[in-house]
Amino acid sequence: MDREKVILTLMKQKKLSHYLEIGVFNGHIFFRVKSTFKIAVDPDFQFDTLRKTGKLFLNPYNVFNKYFEKTSDDFFREDAPGLLTDKKLEMALIDGMHEYDYALRDVENSLNYLSDHGVIVLHDCNPQVKADSVSFEEWKARNFTGTWNGDVWRILLHLRSLRDDINVFTLDCDHGLGIVTFGEPENKLNYTLEQINKFTFEDFNANRTSWINLKPAEYFYEYFQLEK
Ligand SMILES: C[S@@+](CC[C@H](N)C(=O)[O-])C[C@H]1O[C@@H](n2cnc3c(N)ncnc32)[C@H](O)[C@@H]1O
Repeated sequence: MDREKVILTLMKQKKLSHYLEIGVFNGHIFFRVKSTFKIAVDPDFQFDTLRKTGKLFLNPYNVFNKYFEKTSDDFFREDAPGLLTDKKLEMALIDGMHEYDYALRDVENSLNYLSDHGVIVLHDCNPQVKADSVSFEEWKARNFTGTWNGDVWRILLHLRSLRDDINVFTLDCDHGLGIVTFGEPENKLNYTLEQINKFTFEDFNANRTSWINLKPAEYFYEYFQLEK
């Protein structure tokens, strides 16, 4: 199980269409999505016109792609109101800047445009070792080498402590796939912003299963009532 499987399966079986991807890189996932309404946001796309053209043959739906080569903050400020107010999002992959404050804004901004039956997939919620969970500056200092999940895990604590209108859990696969849907929370946490900011990787490591509401990957089929 990985983000590609989760996104493509949900979109196909639940007939979800309107797709947003924040942090697209070379389009490994984005170009495979079959939808007539697809939005790509990344300040530094890693593909050129030739690759984009080639992907039209792989998946003709790519003719509908809308590209925004900018940060997600700029996208939500400048473009989202015009694009998404009438056409609500049904699926969003959030995989851009992996820092708590930044990725939390991505989640909250996406929630503002998410339809009632929409799904947000938040990548990188389950770092395995401390080196994977460092800040952007520390990752930059090591020349962007190795896995970088950042501290996206704090967002699970944040949402589960502060919001009553969404359910949040993490599938135990692909660096931790956070799943966010509208509805009553399965269970809540009770942390303050100050506590969430202060927790260390060691705290996370000792509490990961309960903090990020970690579920076996197969729970995906059960939760969404999908065929395998
Ligand atoms: C891990 S890659 C995305 C991989 C892609 N989603 C996939 O599944 O193949 C992270 C991307 O986030 C982009 N990024 C960094 N800061 C961003 C921001 N503020 N807004 C949107 N994207 C950002 C980077 O340029 C990079 O291409």
